[in-house]
Amino acid sequence: MGILGRMVVTVLPLMPKFVVGWVSRRYHAGVDLDSALETMNRLSKEGACFTVDVLGEEITTMEEAQFFIEEYNRVLEAIVTKNIDANLSIKPTAFGLLIDSLAAEKSIEKLVREAAENDIFVRLDMEDHRVTQSTIDLVTSMHERGLSNIGTVLQGRLFRTLSDIDSISEILGSKADHRICKGIYLEPEKIAFTRRTEITDATNRAIDAALDCGAYVAIASHDTAIVEHSLNALKQRGMGPENQDPREGAVAQRPAKGPGYEFQMLLGVRGDLRRKLAKEGHLTRIYLPYGSKWYEYGVRRLRENPDVAWHITKALLMPWSNRR
Ligand code: FDA
Repeated sequence: MGILGRMVVTVLPLMPKFVVGWVSRRYHAGVDLDSALETMNRLSKEGACFTVDVLGEEITTMEEAQFFIEEYNRVLEAIVTKNIDANLSIKPTAFGLLIDSLAAEKSIEKLVREAAENDIFVRLDMEDHRVTQSTIDLVTSMHERGLSNIGTVLQGRLFRTLSDIDSISEILGSKADHRICKGIYLEPEKIAFTRRTEITDATNRAIDAALDCGAYVAIASHDTAIVEHSLNALKQRGMGPENQDPREGAVAQRPAKGPGYEFQMLLGVRGDLRRKLAKEGHLTRIYLPYGSKWYEYGVRRLRENPDVAWHITKALLMPWSNRR
């Protein structure tokens, strides 16, 4: 990150809220569900589908979980009644995973069950290393209880990821459904790669491994190197927009899924690349956050990983490089 990025990290949390709001509005779909629905309606014309995230994360009391339980139920009801091609992304710590893991699991299971009744998939976003194992365990235990419409995220930067792909695959076989990304959290050197090229290479290896295990793979990156690697990896395995899902025993008929893989990008980031992939026929999904907690979310993300500040700086100074 250059000097400009560092300046933004220092100054942004001190800036008036409206300035932060102006900078960040391209990255979230508004403060309420209506705005999210309106954004999805508009962007679906570009051939995209969605995964909806209600902004907010680790809670400090179990009472706070109630908000997320109710709001995600509203999202579910809205996407079903309005027939929107969308699924859900949830953060287990927002349901209380770090406070009362049994209660959190119960609430998540209820939501996943309701989603299953409507053929909607639920993705557990992956948070920092404190919850890597418990998030994976949530997914495998839901599958054991008959819910196959759930998967999580594996972060290329973590040393453990390749072995997680193997062990999940042993339990779930072709029902495994992974989002693979670099990982936003700056993890300690003893458990994670910390250099950019190492993280990129490790993420590419994770994508290859997940494809080889027969998992459904959501490639979540805006990095041209990763997208190009993935396109080659898919081709080598006979996968692509024109080909049928080649995975043995795959849940191929699940609505709103691609032929064994899809590309995912964040709202507001590399719209050019997403539209190009969609035009080539690949299923492209936009991660669409909305909610009143956009300020806390933005500032926290900046503190966690100042690279985001560089992206914002670049988007501001060179808006053509990063159209929504
Ligand atoms: P990289 O950071 O190199 O970005 C490549 C290019 O994309 C940049 O040069 C820039 O142009 C643009 N860009 C990327 N991020 C930008 C931003 N925020 N603003 C503006 N421009 C940006 N992580 C995690 O730990 N747990 C999770 O559950 C998820 N979930 C998730 C879902 C989806 C759909 C995506 C796309 C990403 C995540 N991530 C995540 C975040 C992920 O781990 C990673 O931190 C970011 O995607 C940035 O890495 P890239 O691979 O995009 O490369």
